Amino acid sequence: MPTFSESILAALSKHTGANSGALKLESPRDPALGDVAFPCFVLAKERKQPPPALAAELAAKLAGEFDDIAVVATGPYLNFRVARPRLAREVLGAVEAAGARFGGSSEGAGKTVVIDYSSPNIAKPMHVGHIRSTILGASLVRIFRHLGYRVVGVNHIGDWGAQFGGLVVALRRWKSQVDLERDPVMGLLDLYQRSKEALKSDEQFQREAVAAYQELESGREGEVRELWRWVTEVSLRGFNATYKRLGIAHEHVRGESWYEPLLQATLERVKAAGVTEISEGALVVMLGEVDKGLKATPCLLQQSNGTTLYATRDLAALFSRWEEFAFERCLYVVGGEQKLHFRQLKAVLQRMNEAWAARVEHVDFGMLLGPGRVKIASRKRGEVLVLDDLIDECVEEAAKVIEEKNPGLSTKAQVAEQVGIGALVFNDLKRERIKDVIFDKREFLAFEGDTGPYLQYTHARLASILRKALASGDAALGAEPDFTALENAGEILLRIARLGDVTRAAAAKAEPSELSQYALSLAREVSTWLTQPENRVLGSEPRAGAARLALVRAAKATLGIALSLLGMAAPEEM
Ligand code: ARG
Repeated sequence: MPTFSESILAALSKHTGANSGALKLESPRDPALGDVAFPCFVLAKERKQPPPALAAELAAKLAGEFDDIAVVATGPYLNFRVARPRLAREVLGAVEAAGARFGGSSEGAGKTVVIDYSSPNIAKPMHVGHIRSTILGASLVRIFRHLGYRVVGVNHIGDWGAQFGGLVVALRRWKSQVDLERDPVMGLLDLYQRSKEALKSDEQFQREAVAAYQELESGREGEVRELWRWVTEVSLRGFNATYKRLGIAHEHVRGESWYEPLLQATLERVKAAGVTEISEGALVVMLGEVDKGLKATPCLLQQSNGTTLYATRDLAALFSRWEEFAFERCLYVVGGEQKLHFRQLKAVLQRMNEAWAARVEHVDFGMLLGPGRVKIASRKRGEVLVLDDLIDECVEEAAKVIEEKNPGLSTKAQVAEQVGIGALVFNDLKRERIKDVIFDKREFLAFEGDTGPYLQYTHARLASILRKALASGDAALGAEPDFTALENAGEILLRIARLGDVTRAAAAKAEPSELSQYALSLAREVSTWLTQPENRVLGSEPRAGAARLALVRAAKATLGIALSLLGMAAPEEM
């Protein structure tokens, strides 16, 4: 049987002669008007008819077409309302049939999206920008994958640059004075900070640092390379422990150093395109002619002493990604501070006439701040933020709330981990990414309000209804559902049906908040519906109960998928 949208499109096509693929249905601005609307503007223009006249004419013609879809003309719109039993049968059937794939699609089949996210710097803990990048990027990876794209998540680790010369010398001098065994990330940070000081005040240290970086750049094996490699491994081990807790695994961990062998070819390629100039001995690309705003900020690719830069390595990475993946989109989930950098990269591609420049996007985001908009400090280490510590703090706090609300829960520790992380993640994804995020544990860990725990709790509540139905052998379980019992659940059903559109919008705009807001609306609607006494699920008339149970099952599945696309667990009990 065709879905209601297909039936409507087929009937519209029959009466207008337009190809049904060219006709677009939308959601009415006011849900009271109908379930879907057809705006008549385009068609009316083609026929040189006023849109309201066309709407009225079509409404009359379509009236006899369906027995379970009502149609009315409201100004220039046709509004359709689907009888609830049909809507329920269709939507609940679709959720059931698709299972975990519900809301997914094949729009991405054969297409690759590269997502550069997290990308911390070694020898330092992740800072707040990396935290947001990690959470946003991980969600985008899941969203694109749900739509059938091949997703290549890349961790572009900052493991190259002159600062590593200093770090190598610091390791030589002070390795024994810091505790690198017990807490390597903090030990390295200590050395890193000492090296920064020494670079300012100690000439001998400076000379050694320059020599060490030259040695590193030369690619020769030996003491320097070994020390650098060791630092990289220690740092990665620390990052990986955190990724594991968050359920994240990059497809490629390619630090900046990975592109080192490609740098000469990259410089040659840009030179061959005829877009480079020498300015004060340095190799630059002037960008004003493709982007007026960049007139005064050319892209610097090689300094007069031959050293390459962050931008050179990013350009090498872009070429290599394009050649390897022929990506549909290449997203950089990096904070707003690097706006200029990514704008320059794109402009270099434009100057080189690379047609794929438009596929490169900087997915930027606002800051993560403490309550009162001050810099966040961690309880353990003050100014220096370690993502793992933040997670620990949230999990501890979640454990307290769970202890209070459900002391008998057998999976307490696991659920506390899920809820603590879920709260942190949801807080980050709740609003449009460009807005700043306030890290206020008390607020985002609450079980009520627009929080992650609220969504997880709603999911667990739906799960508990299903469990109870099974445990009590509810008569609804074997009954044929009577969908007239869902007369008042139209909004929920339509919301569920929209998951696919919302997921596509989230991908198109690289904006997980589309899904977080969707999940909040769905949870609120279902919770309200469940509190109304006439919607009693358990122990009610069996056929009505069966319809309501089916709704509960579908709402749970849909909410669960939305949570998983955001990167949150959906506990069965909490
Ligand atoms: N490591 C960089 C930083 O911490 C972020 C790298 C982002 N990715 C990139 N391809 N530039 O600032």
